[in-house]
Amino acid sequence: MTEILITAPFPDFLMKPLQEGYICHDYYQSPEQAGLLREVGPRIRGLAQGGRTHTAVELLDQLPNLEVISVMGVGYDGVPVDYCKKRGIKVGHTPDVLTDDVADTAVALVLMLSRNFHLANRFVLSGEFRARTFPLATSLNGKKVGILGLGRIGKAIAHRLEAAGMEVSYHNRTPQPVRYSYHPSLLDMARDVDFLVVAAPGGPTTKNIVDASVLEALGAKGRIVNIARGSIVDEPAMIRALKAGTLGGAGLDVFADEHNIPEELMKMDNVVLLPHVGSATKETRKRMAALVLANLAAHFAGKPLVKSIPELRQ
Ligand code: 8YV
Repeated sequence: MTEILITAPFPDFLMKPLQEGYICHDYYQSPEQAGLLREVGPRIRGLAQGGRTHTAVELLDQLPNLEVISVMGVGYDGVPVDYCKKRGIKVGHTPDVLTDDVADTAVALVLMLSRNFHLANRFVLSGEFRARTFPLATSLNGKKVGILGLGRIGKAIAHRLEAAGMEVSYHNRTPQPVRYSYHPSLLDMARDVDFLVVAAPGGPTTKNIVDASVLEALGAKGRIVNIARGSIVDEPAMIRALKAGTLGGAGLDVFADEHNIPEELMKMDNVVLLPHVGSATKETRKRMAALVLANLAAHFAGKPLVKSIPELRQ
């Protein structure tokens, strides 16, 4: 049987079929990762990882016969793509199947920031509703949203927010054949909109592109929503702007370091925080798991991957 390395915590509905089809070595849970690699490294032909897993080149160096990496996630910023290209390692991921759920999450964050539903919930639970009415919020209809990254997820977000009556524009590397207005400059778009929704892929080209100047341009009435990758936004600059009141609010499903969310963010009423749940539904995660398996199966059957990352598509 083919031997593969598991480098992320996977749900049972993925682990079970993986264990049925392959000899799985659980690197993620191994108490002795270095020893495991020394022992099985040369026999490993496949690797399964999560979308947020960072796969170091040093790890891949110890897998000389690795042929394929199957990522459970649309994002693959944790994979050293150029390195894989050089070694001829194929990389598959799970786009499309999670688009709707991630777009829904973005909409939820936009709605919470405009209508203060997170505070409204707290208001009822704390008993305050017995004594007074909840302060008026802001309507979405007629407001402007700028989407950074009009890929599959960005388009699904645009579609939903347009249906809510928002005026949609976007910034992308290249203009798309869509009816939304295109901003060649992210800074100009930030200046123009009430909401900036980050939906671009992570990685070196987008690192910190939402910097202090973009946040300043968004301004005291502007709000940022990020459902993509924490690396795209300069998090310390965002926190400084929120504290200074030069940025109106933030709705975040992703963070610079997901296991260490800055305490300061947790204390602000105009900030809504989610634990990276964009794709976290039973339906979507099962579809993602099926694609992780399908990519591996296709490769080991000598076929092209079902969903290869675009850079390595054959
Ligand atoms: C998941 C994600 O959190 O698809 C992505 O890129 O970030 C998420 O859907 C994760 O990858 C699940 O393994």
